[in-house]
Amino acid sequence: MQIAASVASLLVLGSAWTLQVAAVQPESQANFDLDQFMGRWYELAVVSDCPHYMQHKRENPVVVALELQHVASESNFTATAATFRNDSCKETSTVYSLTDTPGRFFHHFARFAADVDSFVVHTDYEEYAVMLQLSTEKPSETKTTKIKLYSRSTDISPAALKLFQSLVRQHGMSNDAVIKNHSKGECVPGGQATEAKNVTSAGV
Ligand SMILES: *[C@@H]1O[C@H](CO)[C@@H](O)[C@H](O)[C@H]1NC(C)=O
Ligand SMILES: *[C@@H]1O[C@H](CO)[C@@H](O)[C@H](O)[C@H]1NC(C)=O
Ligand SMILES: *[C@@H]1O[C@H](CO)[C@@H](O)[C@H](O)[C@H]1NC(C)=O
Ligand SMILES: *[C@@H]1O[C@H](CO)[C@@H](O)[C@H](O)[C@H]1NC(C)=O
Repeated sequence: MQIAASVASLLVLGSAWTLQVAAVQPESQANFDLDQFMGRWYELAVVSDCPHYMQHKRENPVVVALELQHVASESNFTATAATFRNDSCKETSTVYSLTDTPGRFFHHFARFAADVDSFVVHTDYEEYAVMLQLSTEKPSETKTTKIKLYSRSTDISPAALKLFQSLVRQHGMSNDAVIKNHSKGECVPGGQATEAKNVTSAGV
Protein backbone atom coordinates (compact mmCIF):
# COMPACT_ATOMS: atom_id res chain seq x y z
CA MET A 1 0.00 0.00 0.00
CA GLN A 2 2.67 2.45 1.08
CA ILE A 3 4.93 1.34 -1.73
CA ALA A 4 2.10 1.77 -4.23
CA ALA A 5 1.46 5.26 -2.88
CA SER A 6 5.08 6.32 -3.24
CA VAL A 7 5.32 4.86 -6.72
CA ALA A 8 2.22 6.87 -7.62
CA SER A 9 3.73 10.04 -6.21
CA LEU A 10 6.96 9.37 -8.06
CA LEU A 11 4.99 9.05 -11.26
CA VAL A 12 3.24 12.33 -10.54
CA LEU A 13 6.58 13.98 -9.80
CA GLY A 14 8.01 12.41 -12.93
CA SER A 15 5.30 13.79 -15.18
CA ALA A 16 5.48 17.22 -13.51
CA TRP A 17 9.22 17.20 -14.21
CA THR A 18 8.62 16.23 -17.83
CA LEU A 19 6.12 19.04 -18.22
CA GLN A 20 8.51 21.53 -16.71
CA VAL A 21 11.31 20.44 -19.01
CA ALA A 22 8.96 20.55 -21.99
CA ALA A 23 7.97 24.09 -21.01
CA VAL A 24 11.56 25.29 -21.27
CA GLN A 25 12.44 23.33 -24.40
CA PRO A 26 14.92 25.72 -25.97
CA GLU A 27 14.03 27.56 -29.11
CA SER A 28 16.33 29.71 -31.13
CA GLN A 29 15.38 33.08 -32.49
CA ALA A 30 12.86 33.00 -35.33
CA ASN A 31 14.31 33.72 -38.81
CA PHE A 32 17.82 33.50 -37.43
CA ASP A 33 20.43 34.98 -39.78
CA LEU A 34 23.88 33.50 -39.27
CA ASP A 35 25.84 36.08 -41.20
CA GLN A 36 24.36 38.97 -39.24
CA PHE A 37 25.31 37.14 -36.04
CA MET A 38 29.00 36.87 -36.97
CA GLY A 39 31.72 39.31 -35.92
CA ARG A 40 32.73 40.79 -32.58
CA TRP A 41 30.82 40.08 -29.36
CA TYR A 42 31.65 40.63 -25.72
CA GLU A 43 30.46 38.07 -23.21
CA LEU A 44 29.31 40.39 -20.43
CA ALA A 45 27.44 38.08 -18.10
CA VAL A 46 27.16 34.37 -17.50
CA VAL A 47 25.42 31.97 -15.14
CA SER A 48 25.52 28.19 -14.93
CA ASP A 49 24.20 25.42 -12.74
CA CYS A 50 27.64 23.80 -12.95
CA PRO A 51 29.50 24.61 -9.70
CA HIS A 52 32.95 23.99 -11.24
CA TYR A 53 32.30 26.38 -14.07
CA MET A 54 31.00 29.06 -11.71
CA GLN A 55 34.01 28.70 -9.45
CA HIS A 56 36.36 28.96 -12.41
CA LYS A 57 34.50 32.07 -13.62
CA ARG A 58 34.59 33.68 -10.18
CA GLU A 59 38.36 33.25 -10.12
CA ASN A 60 38.69 35.05 -13.44
CA PRO A 61 35.53 37.12 -13.87
CA VAL A 62 36.49 39.05 -16.95
CA VAL A 63 34.72 40.14 -20.06
CA VAL A 64 35.49 37.67 -22.85
CA ALA A 65 35.90 39.15 -26.32
CA LEU A 66 34.71 36.83 -29.09
CA GLU A 67 35.25 36.98 -32.81
CA LEU A 68 32.87 34.78 -34.81
CA GLN A 69 33.80 33.91 -38.38
CA HIS A 70 31.84 31.95 -40.90
CA VAL A 71 33.33 30.94 -44.22
CA ALA A 72 30.52 30.97 -46.79
CA SER A 73 29.55 27.43 -47.91
CA GLU A 74 31.00 25.80 -44.78
CA SER A 75 28.63 24.13 -42.36
CA ASN A 76 30.46 25.48 -39.31
CA PHE A 77 31.89 28.68 -37.87
CA THR A 78 34.82 29.52 -35.62
CA ALA A 79 34.59 31.45 -32.38
CA THR A 80 37.89 32.86 -31.17
CA ALA A 81 37.78 33.95 -27.55
CA ALA A 82 40.33 36.19 -25.88
CA THR A 83 40.69 36.43 -22.12
CA PHE A 84 43.29 37.67 -19.69
CA ARG A 85 45.33 35.03 -17.93
CA ASN A 86 47.99 36.38 -15.63
CA ASP A 87 47.94 39.73 -17.45
CA SER A 88 48.52 38.25 -20.85
CA CYS A 89 45.94 37.83 -23.54
CA LYS A 90 45.12 34.21 -24.24
CA GLU A 91 43.17 33.07 -27.29
CA THR A 92 41.18 29.90 -27.78
CA SER A 93 39.18 28.82 -30.80
CA THR A 94 36.11 26.64 -30.97
CA VAL A 95 34.49 25.29 -34.12
CA TYR A 96 30.69 25.19 -33.95
CA SER A 97 28.83 22.99 -36.39
CA LEU A 98 25.62 24.34 -37.83
CA THR A 99 22.52 22.17 -37.41
CA ASP A 100 19.25 21.91 -39.34
CA THR A 101 17.78 24.45 -36.94
CA PRO A 102 18.95 28.01 -37.62
CA GLY A 103 20.39 29.53 -34.44
CA ARG A 104 21.23 26.12 -32.98
CA PHE A 105 24.84 24.92 -33.04
CA PHE A 106 26.79 21.94 -31.83
CA HIS A 107 30.32 21.47 -30.56
CA HIS A 108 32.28 18.94 -28.57
CA PHE A 109 34.24 20.31 -25.61
CA ALA A 110 37.17 17.93 -25.25
CA ARG A 111 38.33 19.07 -21.80
CA PHE A 112 35.12 17.81 -20.19
CA ALA A 113 34.28 15.26 -22.90
CA ALA A 114 31.05 17.21 -23.26
CA ASP A 115 28.61 17.50 -26.13
CA VAL A 116 27.28 21.04 -26.21
CA ASP A 117 24.12 22.36 -27.88
CA SER A 118 24.05 26.15 -28.18
CA PHE A 119 20.97 28.22 -28.92
CA VAL A 120 20.77 31.89 -29.83
CA VAL A 121 17.55 32.49 -27.92
CA HIS A 122 17.27 36.23 -28.57
CA THR A 123 19.33 38.59 -30.65
CA ASP A 124 18.88 41.86 -32.52
CA TYR A 125 22.35 41.30 -34.12
CA GLU A 126 23.34 44.91 -33.51
CA GLU A 127 23.32 45.18 -29.75
CA TYR A 128 22.76 41.95 -27.82
CA ALA A 129 22.43 38.19 -27.94
CA VAL A 130 21.15 35.87 -25.22
CA MET A 131 22.72 32.42 -25.52
CA LEU A 132 21.70 29.12 -23.96
CA GLN A 133 24.17 26.22 -23.83
CA LEU A 134 23.19 22.72 -22.77
CA SER A 135 26.10 20.37 -22.11
CA THR A 136 26.13 16.66 -21.56
CA GLU A 137 29.33 15.28 -20.10
CA LYS A 138 30.34 11.78 -21.11
CA PRO A 139 30.25 9.10 -19.82
CA SER A 140 28.44 10.33 -16.70
CA GLU A 141 25.63 11.95 -18.76
CA THR A 142 25.80 14.91 -16.36
CA LYS A 143 23.80 17.76 -17.84
CA THR A 144 24.55 21.41 -17.23
CA THR A 145 23.00 24.65 -18.43
CA LYS A 146 24.79 27.91 -19.15
CA ILE A 147 23.16 31.20 -20.05
CA LYS A 148 25.29 33.96 -21.51
CA LEU A 149 24.72 37.57 -22.39
CA TYR A 150 26.61 38.85 -25.41
CA SER A 151 26.88 42.48 -26.40
CA ARG A 152 28.45 44.22 -29.37
CA SER A 153 29.97 46.69 -26.90
CA THR A 154 31.09 46.49 -23.27
CA ASP A 155 27.76 48.00 -22.24
CA ILE A 156 24.22 46.66 -22.41
CA SER A 157 20.73 48.15 -22.44
CA PRO A 158 18.29 47.45 -19.57
CA ALA A 159 15.92 45.79 -22.08
CA ALA A 160 18.53 43.25 -23.19
CA LEU A 161 19.55 42.63 -19.59
CA LYS A 162 15.87 41.87 -18.80
CA LEU A 163 15.67 39.26 -21.61
CA PHE A 164 18.77 37.60 -20.18
CA GLN A 165 17.45 37.68 -16.60
CA SER A 166 14.09 36.23 -17.56
CA LEU A 167 15.78 33.31 -19.34
CA VAL A 168 17.92 32.75 -16.21
CA ARG A 169 14.76 32.55 -14.06
CA GLN A 170 13.03 30.33 -16.62
CA HIS A 171 15.84 27.82 -16.18
CA GLY A 172 15.51 27.86 -12.41
CA MET A 173 18.66 29.82 -11.70
CA SER A 174 19.08 32.92 -9.60
CA ASN A 175 20.08 36.27 -10.99
CA ASP A 176 22.13 36.75 -7.81
CA ALA A 177 24.47 34.06 -9.15
CA VAL A 178 25.16 35.88 -12.41
CA ILE A 179 28.80 36.84 -12.87
CA LYS A 180 29.12 39.92 -14.96
CA ASN A 181 31.33 42.38 -16.58
CA HIS A 182 34.54 42.79 -14.67
CA SER A 183 36.46 44.40 -17.45
CA LYS A 184 40.21 44.60 -17.07
CA GLY A 185 40.61 46.49 -20.28
CA GLU A 186 40.24 45.14 -23.70
CA CYS A 187 41.84 41.94 -24.86
CA VAL A 188 40.74 41.20 -28.38
CA PRO A 189 41.22 38.20 -30.67
CA GLY A 190 43.94 38.80 -33.21
CA GLY A 191 44.62 42.26 -31.88
CA GLN A 192 46.64 43.70 -29.08
CA ALA A 193 45.28 44.13 -25.61
CA THR A 194 44.81 47.84 -25.17
CA GLU A 195 45.53 48.06 -21.46
CA ALA A 196 47.46 44.86 -20.98
CA LYS A 197 49.92 45.64 -23.74
CA ASN A 198 52.49 47.37 -21.61
CA VAL A 199 51.86 45.12 -18.62
CA THR A 200 52.52 42.10 -20.82
CA SER A 201 55.70 43.39 -22.34
CA ALA A 202 56.95 44.57 -18.95
CA GLY A 203 56.14 41.21 -17.39
CA VAL A 204 57.79 38.99 -19.97
C1 LIG B 1 33.75 22.83 -41.58
O1 LIG B 1 32.81 22.40 -42.56
C2 LIG B 1 33.40 22.00 -43.80
C3 LIG B 1 32.29 21.61 -44.74
O2 LIG B 1 31.19 22.44 -44.66
C4 LIG B 1 34.34 20.84 -43.57
O3 LIG B 1 34.98 20.52 -44.79
C5 LIG B 1 35.38 21.23 -42.53
O4 LIG B 1 36.19 20.12 -42.25
C6 LIG B 1 34.72 21.70 -41.26
N1 LIG B 1 35.75 22.17 -40.34
C7 LIG B 1 35.88 21.68 -39.11
C8 LIG B 1 37.01 22.24 -38.33
O5 LIG B 1 35.15 20.83 -38.67
C1 LIG C 1 49.60 32.52 -13.15
O1 LIG C 1 50.64 32.94 -12.31
C2 LIG C 1 50.74 32.21 -11.12
C3 LIG C 1 51.79 32.85 -10.24
O2 LIG C 1 52.87 33.34 -10.98
C4 LIG C 1 51.07 30.76 -11.46
O3 LIG C 1 51.14 29.99 -10.27
C5 LIG C 1 49.97 30.21 -12.35
O4 LIG C 1 50.29 28.89 -12.74
C6 LIG C 1 49.78 31.07 -13.58
N1 LIG C 1 48.62 30.60 -14.31
C7 LIG C 1 48.63 30.45 -15.63
C8 LIG C 1 47.34 29.98 -16.24
O5 LIG C 1 49.60 30.70 -16.32
C1 LIG D 1 30.01 47.01 -17.99
O1 LIG D 1 31.11 47.89 -17.83
C2 LIG D 1 30.91 49.15 -18.46
C3 LIG D 1 32.20 49.93 -18.38
O2 LIG D 1 33.02 49.51 -17.34
C4 LIG D 1 29.73 49.85 -17.80
O3 LIG D 1 29.53 51.09 -18.40
C5 LIG D 1 28.50 48.98 -17.97
O4 LIG D 1 27.39 49.56 -17.32
C6 LIG D 1 28.71 47.58 -17.42
N1 LIG D 1 27.62 46.72 -17.80
C7 LIG D 1 27.02 45.86 -16.96
C8 LIG D 1 25.95 45.01 -17.54
O5 LIG D 1 27.36 45.74 -15.80
C1 LIG E 1 53.25 51.79 -23.35
O1 LIG E 1 54.53 52.16 -22.98
C2 LIG E 1 55.12 53.09 -23.85
C3 LIG E 1 56.57 53.34 -23.46
O2 LIG E 1 56.89 52.79 -22.23
C4 LIG E 1 54.30 54.37 -23.82
O3 LIG E 1 54.87 55.34 -24.71
C5 LIG E 1 52.89 54.06 -24.25
O4 LIG E 1 52.08 55.21 -24.16
C6 LIG E 1 52.30 52.98 -23.39
N1 LIG E 1 51.03 52.56 -23.94
C7 LIG E 1 49.93 52.47 -23.20
C8 LIG E 1 48.71 51.99 -23.90
O5 LIG E 1 49.90 52.72 -22.00
